[in-house]
Amino acid sequence: MTDLTFDAVLEAHSRVSEVLPETPTWTYPVLDAAVGSRVVVKHENVQPTGAFKVRGGVNLLASLAADERAAGLVTVSTGNHAQSIAWASARAGVAATIVMPVGTCTNKVRAVEALGARAVLSGADMTEAAAVAVSLAEAEGLRMVDPGNEPAIILGHATVYLELLRSHPEIETLYVPVGSGSGAAGAVLVRDGLGLPTRVVAVQAAGAPAGYRSWKSGTLEAVAPSTFAAGLATGVGFAATQAVLADGLDDFLLVSDDELRAAMAVMATSAHTLCEGAGAAGLAGALADAARPGVVGFACTGGNASREEVAEIARLGLAA
Ligand SMILES: Cc1ncc(COP(=O)(O)O)c(C=O)c1O
Repeated sequence: MTDLTFDAVLEAHSRVSEVLPETPTWTYPVLDAAVGSRVVVKHENVQPTGAFKVRGGVNLLASLAADERAAGLVTVSTGNHAQSIAWASARAGVAATIVMPVGTCTNKVRAVEALGARAVLSGADMTEAAAVAVSLAEAEGLRMVDPGNEPAIILGHATVYLELLRSHPEIETLYVPVGSGSGAAGAVLVRDGLGLPTRVVAVQAAGAPAGYRSWKSGTLEAVAPSTFAAGLATGVGFAATQAVLADGLDDFLLVSDDELRAAMAVMATSAHTLCEGAGAAGLAGALADAARPGVVGFACTGGNASREEVAEIARLGLAA
């Protein structure tokens, strides 16, 4: 996909940084001790929506043509992408519709509505909800935003790793959580564009390995996801991101839900940070990687922990 280049990441960053200040990176001695390496944490949990995905929404809104802005957007998501599109659309004065499967918990629906978007509850799962979004786009003339294959979204997400690797080029292994693979593809584009030797290692939930299997086999695979970590629970490999990962990724790790929960607890007790499951996947990967060399980096990609995730952190923290 020709649109996904390092120059395009730089352009995305100039648009994103007009709206979103650079997020902080910190190191924590107790976390270093837990991992056994120096660890650089980038805090995307402090974004206005609590997750790195807002970068994609901001870049997309800044890239739209006038007729697309006037038409309004429709997308499908229950989580951080939904809040990203709702937040960035509200800021840009563009109407947004988010399709969510029936049964999506009410606090996620309310979060999107509170940001001014229209929430449409339809479809039994994400695949059916995506089909509803496509029909709405046709019926109402809306601009469809495909969360995993939209270049402006992927480039916006890549800006996390531009900021991280520019400020910390000493990172030797960078662990990146994978759902659709936009963050991981972005990390590869940035690492290569900066000419760094950093190993980029993708991390996905063992219960939702569609991206992992697609990378291993070289074809887009579908696997029904089963993980509590909503941001990692994608059921298919995505063409645009897999095309970048195919050549550029150094390794791909699967971590169990228990490893994700343990990483959330370590982030809470050692890095003063509330992560959702997907947000702790970078740390889970670092803790699971037997080959881990030298300085480690990852982003806490999101802090939108559900009540169940918060309860798990408390339980594991007490047990520790
Ligand atoms: C907090 C968080 N981390 C990681 C991911 C995975 O990102 P990607 O879908 O770009 O691979 C997501 C996806 O929604 C997320 O919400």
